[in-house]
Amino acid sequence: MEKTKFKIICIVGARPNFMKIAPVMAAFKNDAPQVNVLLVHTGQHYDENMKSQFFEQLGIPEPDIDLEVGSGSHAVQTAEVMKRFEPVVDEQQPDAIVVVGDVNSTISCALVAAKKMLPIIHIEAGLRSYDRKMPEEINRILTDQLSDRLYITEQSAQANLALEGIPSERVCFVGNVMIDTLKKNVKQAIAFSDTLKEHDVKATVTAKNYSLVTLHRPSNVDNKEILERLLTVINETSQIIPVIFPLHPRTRGKITEFKLDHLINSDNIHILPPLGYMQLVGLMDQAKMVMTDSGGIQEETTALGVPCITLRENTERPITVAQGTNTIVGVDANLILSTFNDIMDNGGKTGKQPELWDGHAAERIVADMVEWLTQNVRSPKK
Ligand code: UD1
Repeated sequence: MEKTKFKIICIVGARPNFMKIAPVMAAFKNDAPQVNVLLVHTGQHYDENMKSQFFEQLGIPEPDIDLEVGSGSHAVQTAEVMKRFEPVVDEQQPDAIVVVGDVNSTISCALVAAKKMLPIIHIEAGLRSYDRKMPEEINRILTDQLSDRLYITEQSAQANLALEGIPSERVCFVGNVMIDTLKKNVKQAIAFSDTLKEHDVKATVTAKNYSLVTLHRPSNVDNKEILERLLTVINETSQIIPVIFPLHPRTRGKITEFKLDHLINSDNIHILPPLGYMQLVGLMDQAKMVMTDSGGIQEETTALGVPCITLRENTERPITVAQGTNTIVGVDANLILSTFNDIMDNGGKTGKQPELWDGHAAERIVADMVEWLTQNVRSPKK
């Protein structure tokens, strides 16, 4: 007799989604042949260095469908994804959709599915910065409200979801799929020295003797005064150890618009384009410290045991501060410098591995999902 199959659509849209979906796609393939998985890429990120090299390096299958939405305001981008995702759902008739993280593509597809009474499964649910100035916070809250099965990376998420009235039976603590990808790839990551050579960094930059900087959050880079302040501090730290600074397209655009190029034109600041995953992991692993406003990098540095200075007022990933290597400093120049100096003098936090960040979260998710679908989706497709 032919084996019945569930049909699932997994959605990715932006760079941080790619490392989250990679182990999930692999676990479906290896552990759940009864699930027919389609991958939809919304096209929120589309540049070669914001998209394709991640698919190649992480072995993510080519998307079955690319919605090619591209850039736009939040409203335009969200609406475009919805408009283009709805006919896909109508045509494919999946049993459920899987969304990851907190980008605009996440909430757009969740909204479409919710109005069609389709089960929504959210991976990396329950994180909260309690700062609604972050567009991602709005995406998180709404996606979780719409979701039927919520996989969480740290225990704090359970309490956040309970406060919003989400029944605990819907929530499942599984660990962190992004750390699955990190653990799997860190040994094969591209050596930091090769990445620097490839990008013509001539100066001698040695292991554990440089800081890696990433900045892209609108609250930091869209405001001239804050961006100028941050770049001034980064410039100051570069007098002490070299700075490696891969520039997100948003940040590059704003530096030009605000005429702040002089702050990064320094012999000790090495500007690179956005990097592939294997390059960035290699650079993170051998950095003395990382300064960032990214969400994911706070977790990756904790898993690697590398001190992280987070240039934001808050974090939705508090375990990285309580147990990991992360220090939240905001955009106060003095606090950034004193934390930087402390790491230079004392080595910074070493941290410990958070519970279940063991490289097997995706396997736990797929095992639970199959059981959940079996119990909750009544008529699996042939
Ligand atoms: C998005 C996510 C953010 C995530 C970040 C990682 C939302 C609300 N934000 O922010 O959570 O941390 O991705 O990078 O979903 N651009 C390009 N090429 C591309 C993509 C974007 O040049 O391939 C430029 C465009 O000028 C675009 C700008 O970057 O307008 C911003 O892109 P967008 O996807 O809107 O937001 P991100 O800042 O990348």
